[in-house]
Amino acid sequence: PPGQRSEDVIQRYMEVVADAPEEDCIICMEQLSNPSSYETPPSEEGGQSIVPEAVGKFIKCGHTLHMLCMLAMYNNGTKDGSLQCPSCKTIYGEKTGTQPKGKMEIYSVGQSLPGHPDCGTIQIIYSIPPGLQGPEHPNPGQPFTCRGFPRFCFLPDNNKGRKVKHGGDFCFTLGFNHKRSGLSLLPAGTPTCRLHTRGLSAHGQVLELLKVAWMRRLIFTVGTSSTTGEHDTVVWNGIHHKTEMMSNLSGHGYPDPNYLDNVLSELASQGVTEDCLKPP
Ligand code: APR
Ligand code: ZN
Ligand code: ZN
Repeated sequence: PPGQRSEDVIQRYMEVVADAPEEDCIICMEQLSNPSSYETPPSEEGGQSIVPEAVGKFIKCGHTLHMLCMLAMYNNGTKDGSLQCPSCKTIYGEKTGTQPKGKMEIYSVGQSLPGHPDCGTIQIIYSIPPGLQGPEHPNPGQPFTCRGFPRFCFLPDNNKGRKVKHGGDFCFTLGFNHKRSGLSLLPAGTPTCRLHTRGLSAHGQVLELLKVAWMRRLIFTVGTSSTTGEHDTVVWNGIHHKTEMMSNLSGHGYPDPNYLDNVLSELASQGVTEDCLKPP
């Protein structure tokens, strides 16, 4: 979040260890008993500075590394208040991405998907207009393009545990207040989005997790398309979507018995898990 000191983020999720273990730092590859080669940043008021000798241990996974190396890695990223352990990828805090502003719409379709004959289909439509890259993107100030938008995606609608009408009643428009000041959900048209937290089938849960991922700007990013080689364009960000409904020419269609497990693990690797759906 804005105004948050980077050092505070490091100190929130890492504790100083007194005796450096006889290991190498996974970031700089130097022994932990030697200092980090990064310098202590100029001290700001009210904050505790981190010295080059400081070795930190992540509070959950327990991996150790130079705290200043971790600080440098954090400062190199989107500085969203979250950390990811470079050893095991455990996420601390809420990871957010760099997806440009746009719209996620959810509809229900009566037709069944191949492999899911007993239910209808959820259709997700992502719309992102072209724009200028922000400071979080590879080439700030340069334009980015958007190919193949709106992108249509499909999920089986086998939510046995609840009766929810989807018919166009979800619309997430994601806007920005300021450059770095975080996100706001702008109501687009009358019906606003809702996050469902109870009685979800596995696929119903995937839909809700995709909404969380969208709000955290994790579905797309700006970069180079591996399909077309185009730079400075909006691309998928590692959470696979099914973009073919009745055919499977691209490999991104149905049937795919592994899709559910795969997409759940891709969501989890971005820090989007079942826990995100628990009521506070
Ligand atoms: N549908 C869904 N996912 C796809 C598709 C597709 N048609 N093509 C590639 N992907 C997956 C890839 O497997 C990879 O994991 O997206 C990831 C990023 O691939 P890029 O080619 O870099 O992504 P992008 O350029 O955004 O997409 C390529 O996806 O939805 C379509 O219209 C889009 O044709 C474009 C294609
Ligand atoms: Zn180091
Ligand atoms: Zn770890």
